[in-house]
Amino acid sequence: MKANIVLLPGDGIGPEVVAESVRVLEVIAGKNGHAFEFVERLMGGCSIDKFGTSLTDETLADCQSADAVLLGAVGGPKWDDPSARDRPERGLLALRKGLGVFANLRPVKVHPALMEWSPLKPEKLKGVDILVVRELTGGLYFGWPKGRDIKDGRERAVDTLEYFDYEILRVLELAFELARGRRKKVTSVDKANVLETSRLWRQIAARIGAENPDVELEHTLVDTASMRLITGPAWMDVVVTENMFGDILTDEASVLAGSMGMLPSASLGGSGLGLYEPIHGSAPDIAGRGIANPIGTILSTAMLLRHSLKLEAEAVAIENAVERTITEGARTTDLGGKLTTRQMADEIIKNIGD
Ligand code: IPM
Ligand code: MG
Repeated sequence: MKANIVLLPGDGIGPEVVAESVRVLEVIAGKNGHAFEFVERLMGGCSIDKFGTSLTDETLADCQSADAVLLGAVGGPKWDDPSARDRPERGLLALRKGLGVFANLRPVKVHPALMEWSPLKPEKLKGVDILVVRELTGGLYFGWPKGRDIKDGRERAVDTLEYFDYEILRVLELAFELARGRRKKVTSVDKANVLETSRLWRQIAARIGAENPDVELEHTLVDTASMRLITGPAWMDVVVTENMFGDILTDEASVLAGSMGMLPSASLGGSGLGLYEPIHGSAPDIAGRGIANPIGTILSTAMLLRHSLKLEAEAVAIENAVERTITEGARTTDLGGKLTTRQMADEIIKNIGD
């Protein structure tokens, strides 16, 4: 098949991990007779430096007309001034909104050989296989009004937490659909004892739960959910929640896997178009040294093949190759090893079957 993939390597270690992931995709294309065309664009801090804005209209349009978008990471100390007019992260949020990718899928699995790298005891980690579905284009990140002013002589800042029923409905429906292909459990996370948006969320979740009796639904308050991620993560299957809670819980969940560098994500909307990125950030402390773990991004390309290009066998080939590579003991520095980004990708490529 032919596919047009936009690459947004971004800042910090982003370009390093994206370059290796493209090599993996090229190997997959070669072995299976696909033609992937890659178009590279700037987004984030690098785009601020070159164009004065974190996301140009042209880049957004290129992404909107692609089959899939692969992103590295954005941000860094250079662009961290709180009074700056634009920030790398704003480009990422505008991209998510502009692509309409309302659901962010963040799978968390623990490879048995990496359990020692997790702060949790191995017996807690056994069987952990969680899929967090985070609402991505609503809530506090986008609600209006938002801003700073002076009120009653005091400096004030405002963010607004707002959700429409349809925004809640579509992400919950997707969570139930995904649970059906897994262990058939949905944990819906909210703060319904305090927040009005959460009460609407819970009401809609309960309704969808009643319409889908084959899937077990539990409602959990976000504070309890954050505790249970540590005390009993193996029980959880699909965890679905709003934007901000999902942001926080997925960083927490990532430590189960031993290193943030291991974890991929897919952001999906109604169409086939998706945005794929590792969940780690731009890691300015190690940028430019060629030592970042590329696995999170390589596994994101597997999600890209699965969700946007419908190439399930190719996606599984990458996931199996990563699995085998870890089992064989290949490790980048985040996991106590010595392999460079390039060498890790080489090992994975060697393990991709025909
Ligand atoms: C993430 C990141 C982003 C978010 C930042 C970089 C805007 O933390 O993808 O989890 O908060 O969504
Ligand atoms: Mg985050």
